[in-house]
Amino acid sequence: EKIYVGVDLGGTTIKVGVCDSEGKLVHTYEAPTKAEEGAEAGMERIAEYVRTAVAESAYEWEQVAGVGAGMAGFLDIPNGFIKFSNNLNWRNVPAKQILEEKLGVPVKINNDANVAALGEAWGGAGRGIDNCVCYTLGTGVGGGIIINGKIYEGFGGMAGELGHVSIVSDLEAVACTCGQKGCLETVSSATGIVRMAKDAVERGDRTALALVNPITAKDVFDAGKAGDEVALRIINRAAYYLGRAMAGMAVIVNPQRFIVGGGVSKAGDILFEPIRETFRKYTPEHAQTGVDIVPATLGNDAGVVGAAGLMLE
Ligand code: BGC
Ligand code: NA
Ligand code: ZN
Repeated sequence: EKIYVGVDLGGTTIKVGVCDSEGKLVHTYEAPTKAEEGAEAGMERIAEYVRTAVAESAYEWEQVAGVGAGMAGFLDIPNGFIKFSNNLNWRNVPAKQILEEKLGVPVKINNDANVAALGEAWGGAGRGIDNCVCYTLGTGVGGGIIINGKIYEGFGGMAGELGHVSIVSDLEAVACTCGQKGCLETVSSATGIVRMAKDAVERGDRTALALVNPITAKDVFDAGKAGDEVALRIINRAAYYLGRAMAGMAVIVNPQRFIVGGGVSKAGDILFEPIRETFRKYTPEHAQTGVDIVPATLGNDAGVVGAAGLMLE
């Protein structure tokens, strides 16, 4: 039996998943990324963690048919290159080549959110749906566009960078780690939510968040659930821009479903209700018929399952 290994390279952890020939996740392993040590050390870690994951599983190394890896950042997918990872601060890494040399098996790389979208489309919230668009809300805002069951990569592999759609007007726009300003990521990511909360506290707005230090996105949602008006304003702003971005996607791609994953999506209705409301308000009637917006269901596993799926495709 052949097995497929998926890697989810994140800012803080590298997660590895071993999948059987049907794509079922049978074993996972995770350990730190230590991105600050640089890309070369990072690639060595990935290779080491992959070997460990397979060794710990019920399978032998000889059964590995390939390794798929999802990585945050702007990639040249066809050539297997990390051009610039704004989250890891790595530039120009020939990731596919390095990993193939280290592991001696075929490797494919793709964007972390693209593979999470593929994972959800196969075995999660998008199961049975051929056209869906996925947003992941975490440190950044990731995106993945699944068209006819496949990741849409675009001409250079840059398609689906939905967090970097510039959407906030210049008057209110703040700088993004990508070099642009006003990106969706600056308002709808955990980082953006925390930034807005800190700004409010610094301005002297009346909020329970003034007593919290350091503030996390979860603190903002908890305060919102307790009725804190400043927290609710921030949550609504994060949701509003995501809803507007989806309205744009709906008329361009016409997906059947929007899937929202990542840590922030665990907030539930307090986040999803204003997203849906904005989406309904700004999408032409015929472009929203039959379209829904739902939370991801695979949680942390979406990345590794989708990444392994790159090799099964
Ligand atoms: C990166 C994307 C990534 C997303 C989620 C963004 O900041 O630019 O490539 O998919 O974060 O990790
Ligand atoms: Na993407
Ligand atoms: Zn950006």
